[in-house]
Amino acid sequence: MPLSRFDFPPDFLFGAATAAYQIEGAGFGGCGPSHWDTFAATPGNVVRAEDGSKACDHYHQWPDDLDLIRAANMDAYRFSTSWARVMPDGVTVNPEGMDFYDRLVDGMLARGLKPFQTLYHWELPSALADKGGWTNRDTCLRFVDFAQAITERLGDRVASIATINEPWCVAWLSHFIGAHAPGLRDIRAAARAMHHILLAHGMAVDRLRGMGQQNLGIVLNFDYAKAATDSAQDQQAAARWDGIFNRWFIEGITRQAYPDIVLEGLASHMPDRWQDDMPVIGQKLDWLGVNYYTRHLHAHDPAAPWPHLRHVPGPLPKTQMGWEIYPEGLHHFLTCLARDHVGNLPLYVTENGMANADTLADGTVTDQIREDFLFAHLAATRRAIADGANVQGFFYWSLLDNYEWAEGYEKRFGLVHVDFDSLARTPKASYHALARALARND
Ligand code: NOJ
Repeated sequence: MPLSRFDFPPDFLFGAATAAYQIEGAGFGGCGPSHWDTFAATPGNVVRAEDGSKACDHYHQWPDDLDLIRAANMDAYRFSTSWARVMPDGVTVNPEGMDFYDRLVDGMLARGLKPFQTLYHWELPSALADKGGWTNRDTCLRFVDFAQAITERLGDRVASIATINEPWCVAWLSHFIGAHAPGLRDIRAAARAMHHILLAHGMAVDRLRGMGQQNLGIVLNFDYAKAATDSAQDQQAAARWDGIFNRWFIEGITRQAYPDIVLEGLASHMPDRWQDDMPVIGQKLDWLGVNYYTRHLHAHDPAAPWPHLRHVPGPLPKTQMGWEIYPEGLHHFLTCLARDHVGNLPLYVTENGMANADTLADGTVTDQIREDFLFAHLAATRRAIADGANVQGFFYWSLLDNYEWAEGYEKRFGLVHVDFDSLARTPKASYHALARALARND
């Protein structure tokens, strides 16, 4: 028997997740330019130089998309509100953008869906990118003003607010590895972004809390770090990756301290007096979001600068992204977070899913591999709950095939297939399987 909603606690929420730039169409509705537009327009950054100007045209098709969520028997929808749409120059409100999200949230409520809002899912307004973006402390202040403005409009109706989506991607992937906007490969910029993104989070929590807003959290991503071999050197390499990816952000928040194993490499590049910010960063959370996709194997690489490591391909079956399928990692993080970091604080799996080279044939998409992936990760979540983790919801990434950042439109994560020419939506077999699992008896 496949799992169903009755295998989870009675109030457990099931939903799907998306993000503004990946689905809406940044070319519509007076949205301002963001650093993702610039990054995509610069040769070599994004597959076929694709961008989010049209994306899934969700800006116009949102009623149908919300209907799809409802028809899958889901309880909640995780979406993001684009800073560049709400404030095209980073500071001035675009009424059209505000109105769009107002209608969207009302549309969720009309369909009985709980709105789970994310404030920053990566479309930094270009005007702020021009001033140094997340390397500039001032961006934190601008972010807090954005958080306040959008919350004044939507805060009475959203069920939950996440400040930042995946700070590791915002900071490390984008400023050290250079794979996401702004595409820097600069350790000093990275160290600053690693700190400022958490400072923006803490300052926003502070401001929103002061407005009486409840259910404030952050969405962190976790990637199981395994050493390529049993050698002490490879174990240390994996520990450094684990520190940068899995420990920096949660320990910054819950311990008001960064891990020594990471400070070894970053301390000399950090902003002055960063220690003074730790109490703001350590604001109490109401919940923690966990994004989980895969694991990576790491080997010590003495030829590479700090953190002296390289990735080694793993042996497990892989998704279209080349990511190993490893549901045990989700159980690991949920139980370890509860045990070592957040105790009984509510946890949500805010993203989990896989890309697959899905094809549409005779009006259907057969994606058994996604169905298996999804149910294996639901089972891992259920085991984590049985082992004491207070997990209160699970959001599949993603509702729709969409703009997968540097990978363009080729990597399909959706429960619903999107034809990027006609923009037609076709629910895949996995969508129907999930809808059956989530059906209620009444
Ligand atoms: C994490 C990000 O939040 C989302 O934007 C992205 O598309 C998925 N992972 C898949 O890579």
